[in-house]
Amino acid sequence: MEKLIIFNFKMAPSSLAEAKNVFQIFNKFSSKIKKHKLVIVPPYIFLAEAKEVLGKKCFLGAQNVFWFDRYSVTGEISPKMLKLLKSQYVIIGHSERREYLQETEVMINLKIKTCLKDGLKPILCIGEKERKGKDSSSSFSVKKILFEQLNHAFQGVQIKKSSDLVIAYEPIWAIGSGKSQDLVEVEKTISLIRFWLARRFSEKLAKNLPIIYGGSVNNQNILSFLKLKEGAGVLVGGASTNKNELIKILKQLIK
Ligand code: PGA
Repeated sequence: MEKLIIFNFKMAPSSLAEAKNVFQIFNKFSSKIKKHKLVIVPPYIFLAEAKEVLGKKCFLGAQNVFWFDRYSVTGEISPKMLKLLKSQYVIIGHSERREYLQETEVMINLKIKTCLKDGLKPILCIGEKERKGKDSSSSFSVKKILFEQLNHAFQGVQIKKSSDLVIAYEPIWAIGSGKSQDLVEVEKTISLIRFWLARRFSEKLAKNLPIIYGGSVNNQNILSFLKLKEGAGVLVGGASTNKNELIKILKQLIK
């Protein structure tokens, strides 16, 4: 089954030459990667170059979007602009934006609605800040956090097709920490999200909507996450622009 691999560059690399170099690495390997769909999400300033350089096997995404097309809002980027740059996906609600930019549930909800209206696929990130002691996906505290994030994000949202949207389960404590979530817990948490989707939308949508895992994915653990039955893929952060690590990851994906 085809899995989705999202590469979130965050604020790297630091120059256009470096970005081109990373895109070329993707081109070198992507033709050999038959089983998976690669989505490259560079900072805005490299999207135009990515559109030119990346081959057909790589899809593009953005790290953020504004929620209106025609307003004068200094510093923002509209959905139409992203589509001009051939971006099909947008990461929404990443924990770094929630924390450092005080991005609220209301903003996240508006962005999801805008993306769906304008034909961009949101990659909605949700996840708990911490897990204490014996906390698991069956703990009330974990369920409460995830269900509240889902309730807010999808308020008033209609989804036509399961392929219109992706959910990324990203436990915040696992992001950039080198400590990824336990595989069994990822599987259970994804099932929990599917349970919520079935109640809010339909069994069919809950079964088919892609739910991926993110948080310290690297060349050592990526294949285990890709083997998960409930999981539809992974979101790779920090490793995306570390050239050695990226090459190792892409080599794993050929297998
Ligand atoms: P990480 O980041 O792979 O560096 O943990 C994940 C993310 O961007 O959400």
